Amino acid sequence: MVTPAAGRAGSLSLAVLAGGTSAEREVSLNTGAQVISALEDRGHAVTHIDSAEDGFIEQLRTGGFDAVFVCLHGRFGEDGTIQGLLELLGLPYVGSGVLASALAMDKVMSKHIFLAEGLRTPAFAVLRTDAPVDYAAIIGSLGEKLVVKPVNEGSSVGMSIVHEPGELPAAVARAFEHDDTVLVESFVAGVEVTVGVIGNRELMALPTLEVVPEHEFYDYESKYVPGMSSHIIPARISENARAECQAVAVAAHRALDCRGMSRTDMIVTTTGEVFVLELNTIPGMTRTSLLPDAARAAGIEFPELCDRLVELALDV
Ligand SMILES: Nc1ncnc2c1ncn2[C@@H]1O[C@H](COP(=O)(O)OP(=O)(O)O)[C@@H](O)[C@H]1O
Ligand SMILES: [Mg+2]
Repeated sequence: MVTPAAGRAGSLSLAVLAGGTSAEREVSLNTGAQVISALEDRGHAVTHIDSAEDGFIEQLRTGGFDAVFVCLHGRFGEDGTIQGLLELLGLPYVGSGVLASALAMDKVMSKHIFLAEGLRTPAFAVLRTDAPVDYAAIIGSLGEKLVVKPVNEGSSVGMSIVHEPGELPAAVARAFEHDDTVLVESFVAGVEVTVGVIGNRELMALPTLEVVPEHEFYDYESKYVPGMSSHIIPARISENARAECQAVAVAAHRALDCRGMSRTDMIVTTTGEVFVLELNTIPGMTRTSLLPDAARAAGIEFPELCDRLVELALDV
């Protein structure tokens, strides 16, 4: 029998928070199940806690956990609220703190910070339910091919690509079903690349991963249905562009003051310009998700990755 190897932190009592009430509940449960089995493989005692259930705060408060691995995506999980709760409870947790989580979740606020730090991000307009939308002005300033997204959702929920002006009003209405604030961006054509970053102070950029969706963009199905997208590591871009993507991902991680891990989604144009689409503070963490896949290419297997993230939470 092989004795499970515990990391530098030894054998720990860990809570894995997965489930929750956001649109990404199913994804979160899947991530959680795989993280639990990886951490158990590494010799830790792991308890699953679902933040959708009554009493979950009491479970966290009284569980005697050394750390919490947050596998919640979207609202009330990735947005700083759960992180604030864990701060109040005095529990160390994997990933970014309250401010970085909240900033990254808000696609508009994070774009403001990326721009202030000199990072490129697609040109954009912000629409709110309480003001009339001037469609002609949007098309005049951003062009005819556009991407419309709710500001606070993930997993491409409520998002559309607009190919010609006539499609814009319906796309905006669809996004408003999910959020009071909607982001309209110029469509940027190019290679879609995502780069994971691991670390607290010393940061390691994982290899570039090119995402090739079967559909027109990396939508919900492409993300979660096997075979609907493929990963190519490293991305089929120049050596220079790869280095640039890794530098941009590290700069984006620092700009939002992230901790532990992040994954930055980017588009690289044919001329090698890198545009940041967004930064995810709790990226998908199934064995076949983007960040774990890139980590594997860098020689870090999934259980070791999960263990490393717990160590970063404890800062050992
Ligand atoms: N401005 C853009 N230009 C081209 N494609 C985009 C743009 N914004 C988003 N996309 C496509 O939509 C996908 C999802 O957008 P993203 O901003 O990463 O939001 P999320 O992953 O949170 O839904 C991207 O992976 C990409 O395929
Ligand atoms: Mg994304």
